[in-house]
Amino acid sequence: MSKVLAVVYSYTGTSRRLAQLLVAQQQWTLAEVREARPRSGVAGTSRCLLDSFFRRSPEIRYDGPNLNEFDAVVLISPIWAYRLAGPMRSFVAAQRASLRDVAVISVMGESGAPNAVAEVTRLIGHPPLMNAAFKSREVEDGGCAGRLQAFGKAVQEARDSSLVVRPSTWSPQAA
Ligand SMILES: Cc1cc2nc3c(=O)[nH]c(=O)nc-3n(C[C@H](O)[C@H](O)[C@H](O)COP(=O)(O)O)c2cc1C
Repeated sequence: MSKVLAVVYSYTGTSRRLAQLLVAQQQWTLAEVREARPRSGVAGTSRCLLDSFFRRSPEIRYDGPNLNEFDAVVLISPIWAYRLAGPMRSFVAAQRASLRDVAVISVMGESGAPNAVAEVTRLIGHPPLMNAAFKSREVEDGGCAGRLQAFGKAVQEARDSSLVVRPSTWSPQAA
């Protein structure tokens, strides 16, 4: 069975909750990207927006396992201003050489996930195996569980059978 690592960045906790559910469903390992300079309040939100507008890569800390020990990596991150959240941008850029079979999960209020997938594609030089988008509301009310389970199973099966499924979108609203 292939080894899968889920790597999450979360500012307000929603992506982390989704990531915890996913690894519990699939019995995968979870690692977290943290910021060197944690943000909060209005200044923190402004910094999120500026990171997105200028595609900045803020300094991060990652003390999870070496990605090369895993067959696939699932990246889980919020959307900020219709783009990938800055700290996940930093992680992908720093680890691009070790990111071969990748799946992307975006967590958002409404829209922006396709831009995040496009950015990951640009950074790693090839499209992710699969991608999915979940709305914050679905995570908060637990409505994400079934689709998340199906997505995790599909990633595991694609890797186990070395079946190349690229790129496939699991978002009902790929807005
Ligand atoms: C600065 C900022 C910008 C955001 N921009 C968007 C956006 O463009 N589109 C969207 O659907 N949600 C947007 N959101 C909402 C978050 O993506 C959403 O609340 C997500 O669940 C947060 O994940 P987290 O709790 O893991 O940080 C934004 C949130 C913040 C803080």
